[in-house]
Amino acid sequence: MTEASQQDLFSSLIDDLASQGWSQRALFAPQILTRELAAECRKRAHDGELNPASVGRGSTQQVQEGIRGDRIQWLEPGQSEASDRYLQLMDELRQALNQTLFLGLEDFECHFACYEPGAFYLRHLDRFRDDDRRTVSAVFYLNEDWQAEHGGALRLYLNDGREHDVLPQAGTLALFLSGEMPHEVLPATRERLSLTGWFRRRGNDVL
Ligand code: OGA
Ligand code: MN
Repeated sequence: MTEASQQDLFSSLIDDLASQGWSQRALFAPQILTRELAAECRKRAHDGELNPASVGRGSTQQVQEGIRGDRIQWLEPGQSEASDRYLQLMDELRQALNQTLFLGLEDFECHFACYEPGAFYLRHLDRFRDDDRRTVSAVFYLNEDWQAEHGGALRLYLNDGREHDVLPQAGTLALFLSGEMPHEVLPATRERLSLTGWFRRRGNDVL
């Protein structure tokens, strides 16, 4: 992608996020990168590197498959060329968000996620009661040929009472305001892979 078309893509995502609290774009990353990330996620899952995700933080943190059933692994810089390229892309998006919306986003944390058929994540907000740093959620999907009848949509509960479903199709990026947009992951009939992350503001306690 040329630099100009990447800036156009970022601007249109950010405009939608600002006006409606969420946005979604197909073909967010080059197809070759999306495929490499999918292969890496599948390999990590099949090598047993993904662990059951937990709910809550600190002393209240626990695995509760009745609330969320995905398995995850956090991305760290230097793990692979593809994951480093993804982190770089998201850092460029972080800077664009800051330049346009003055959000003061300081970093981006992100994990691979794999939902086996039947797994789900009940309606929630992406913000912990004791930690409000997560500001913008970003989910990048890795599943080729996803059809609506496979289920597995990300369902956003919009503030006008409507719902919006995002299909987890490879190459689609969904962005939404972490603390304001209730959402859930519906169960699917096939494996559902993604990279789920959060742009975070500086914490109030670390000045
Ligand atoms: C989450 C989440 C959405 C998705 O992990 O907090 O809401 O579509 N994921 O995977
Ligand atoms: Mn969430």
